[in-house]
Amino acid sequence: MTIQPGDSVETSRELQDAPEEFRAAVEKIVISHAVNELYGAQVFDEPAIALAPTPYSKWLTCRVAMEEYGHHVRFRELGEEIGIAPERMVPGDKKPLSIFEFPLKSWEEFCVIKLLADLAEILQVEDLAQCKFLPLRNLSRMTMPEERFHAQFGEDFCKELIETEEGRQAVQDAINCYFPILPKFFGRAGSKNNEIYRKWGIKQRTNEDMLADYINRARDLVEGELGLTLPDVAEAA
Ligand SMILES: [Fe+2]
Ligand SMILES: [Fe+2]
Repeated sequence: MTIQPGDSVETSRELQDAPEEFRAAVEKIVISHAVNELYGAQVFDEPAIALAPTPYSKWLTCRVAMEEYGHHVRFRELGEEIGIAPERMVPGDKKPLSIFEFPLKSWEEFCVIKLLADLAEILQVEDLAQCKFLPLRNLSRMTMPEERFHAQFGEDFCKELIETEEGRQAVQDAINCYFPILPKFFGRAGSKNNEIYRKWGIKQRTNEDMLADYINRARDLVEGELGLTLPDVAEAA
C-alpha cells in the first residue's frame, strides 16, 4: 500500500518503500542532527570540561559531553539503518550552523550555550517527538530528558554565576554574543523544506512559529529567572 501524507511509517525497513520526498526529508533531519550533535560536543562540551572551575562542575560537564556524543552516535546509528552513508553524518560534508564558528572562551559562555542553545534543541526535539516516522519519534523521546538536563545545567550554573557582579556581567556578555546567532537554528521563514516536513508529519510546526515560541521561552528564562536582558533579534530571521 502506498504511504500517503499523514500515514505513520513504523520501521526503517518500511521507510525504504515510502515516497522519495518522505525518505529524503527524513534523511535531511537525521543528517542535520548527527552532524550538529557531533560539532557541539567537539566545539563546546568537550573543551568545557577543562574550563569548568570545580571538580563537581567538571563531573557534570563530562556527563553533558558524554550525552552529546551519545546523541550523535544514536542519530548516526539510525542514519545507517535507513541507508545514509556514514561520511554524510560527520562534520565536513555539510555547512555547520554559524554558532559553531565561535571558539569557546569561557565557562560563562558554556553555561549560556547550555541555557539557550539547548533550549533551542529542546524545541526541535519536542516537535520531532510527534514525528510520523516512528524510529525518529522514539529516538527524540529518548533524547529529550537529556536535553532537559543540559538546559537545567545551564540555568543552574548561570544562577550561581550571577551571584557576583563580575559573573553577572560575564553571563550578560555571553547572552549578548550568542543569543543573536540562535534564531538561525530554526531555519528561514516560509521554508520549502519545512513545508515538506509538515506535509508528511515529520515536523508539526512552521519555522516562524517555533522561533516565536523560542524567543518567548528564552525571555522567560533570561529576564524572568535570571533578571538579565535578552537582546532584541529579528523574528523573521
Ligand atoms: Fe544533544
Ligand atoms: Fe544538549
